[in-house]
Amino acid sequence: MKTLVLVFHPHLEKSQVNRKLMDAANETGDVTVMDEYAAYTDFKINVEHEQELIETHDRIVLQFPFYWYSSPALLKQWEDDVIKAGWAYGGGRALEGKEFMLAVSTGSPADSYTSEGSHVRTMEELLSPFETTFRHTHATYLKPFLIQGVATSTDEQIDAAVAKYPAALIG
Ligand SMILES: Cc1cc2nc3c(=O)[nH]c(=O)nc-3n(C[C@H](O)[C@H](O)[C@H](O)COP(=O)(O)O)c2cc1C
Repeated sequence: MKTLVLVFHPHLEKSQVNRKLMDAANETGDVTVMDEYAAYTDFKINVEHEQELIETHDRIVLQFPFYWYSSPALLKQWEDDVIKAGWAYGGGRALEGKEFMLAVSTGSPADSYTSEGSHVRTMEELLSPFETTFRHTHATYLKPFLIQGVATSTDEQIDAAVAKYPAALIG
């Protein structure tokens, strides 16, 4: 199985978590890793190239830090440009049989993402537009890989969470 990891982080040089996740992915066999913000500084996505990457991999991981209960803006642009009618839906079925997994880091801890917690909504609810998009295009939506509470985590806690990433990428 070939895995593609698309990293969407606008400031990887300042990253505590996503840089480490990216390094762990790069050290994992049969995994292709792309830094999307470095590739598309002008937000002009090479749609054919992205579609070809998806076509030649089995599992596609969208990795990003949680920004305002969603993703950084380039991932939305990527979705709008790459998941095209005639290719992924509306006559096309390019995503059928593909596995999609989100890998998301959040500043706030997991227990704040409950109906009683400070953010009121669960991660499952907040990530549901992604889930629905991939279900609608006949892909398989895998359980997200979450690293939460980054703002209050120690380096050791982050390293322990990152150590679980390779198995999630290829498992
Ligand atoms: C613009 C912006 C919006 C953010 N929104 C959220 C949010 O909605 N929920 C949350 O838990 N953390 C939020 N954060 C914190 C980031 O998710 C957190 O810093 C990031 O996941 C850490 O990963 P990194 O070290 O790779 O940057 C936000 C950070 C920024 C800069």
